[in-house]
Amino acid sequence: MSVTVRAPAKINVYLGVGKVRDDGFHPLETVYQAVSLYDDVTVTDADEWSVTTLADGVHVDSGAIPDDDTNIAIVAGKALVAHHRIDRCAEIEIRKSIPVAGGMAGGSADAAATLVALDRLWNLNTSDDDLLAIGAELGSDVPFALVGGTATGTGRGEVVTPVEDNGTWWWVVVFNDEGLSTPSVYGAYDLLEGGDHDYRIKPAMLDALREGGHSDSLGVFIYNDLEDAAFHLRPDLERTAEAVLECGATMTVLSGSGPTMLGIATDADDARTIASRLAARGYERTAVVHGPVAGAHVVAYS
Ligand code: C5P
Repeated sequence: MSVTVRAPAKINVYLGVGKVRDDGFHPLETVYQAVSLYDDVTVTDADEWSVTTLADGVHVDSGAIPDDDTNIAIVAGKALVAHHRIDRCAEIEIRKSIPVAGGMAGGSADAAATLVALDRLWNLNTSDDDLLAIGAELGSDVPFALVGGTATGTGRGEVVTPVEDNGTWWWVVVFNDEGLSTPSVYGAYDLLEGGDHDYRIKPAMLDALREGGHSDSLGVFIYNDLEDAAFHLRPDLERTAEAVLECGATMTVLSGSGPTMLGIATDADDARTIASRLAARGYERTAVVHGPVAGAHVVAYS
């Protein structure tokens, strides 16, 4: 038997970053939103652990995503097995739509999907609290990939609290061919800014989400403390942001630690218009997505 679980990409509608902690992580106040770009993970019982990754139906090179025990999906599977003190293995197939090293938590989505898929495959009935705790060990964004919707993230991002969001927000996502490493962006942030400022989420932003109105009402609050650091490392990203604004977005923001860039649009048609204008300017790798959407969930048993 096989189980397939779908997990969403995340964006940070707001990302406030404080001073680096003794453990090397940064304290965050973030507003996550799960958006309609997904990885599907299928797990099947096997005698040993294995993982393959496909993007657009083509095998992804092991240089881009490891195909050994260092792959976060296998790390997740082994963590679940250790938690339950059982001796089982699985074959894992990942069908990717979320960009690799793009600041949209694709690896975290794969880890979250693997946890849920194996829990169902083996009828483990892992409690939500235990799944969230195992997820937090795997990566700061994994708990949010389990929960989905719109939520605040505190701690290093792993403490997730759902917030009321009555909007359907439309985003233009501009991909980038060259990934950006998360630690390098945080490192540049430490040098440039350091986190000595008020990085708390503004209550008025949560009001805008609750009211779910026009994109302008949320657009004024969209912000990412890592943006300047990413622009410093990759000046081309600042030009991408300018192009997204010139093509009609209400507001732009870097996705997480980048290099993916986001523009908020008024509705689906507006988002598609912005994407086609971007294509005419040479930004051809884009997607139109909406949020919030569900966290990791089963889509098939076969
Ligand atoms: O938890 P995750 O695997 O996403 O973290 C990857 C890296 O990003 C960490 O090793 C750290 O360098 C950086 N990071 C950070 N502060 C956070 C989250 C991540 O400095 N809150």
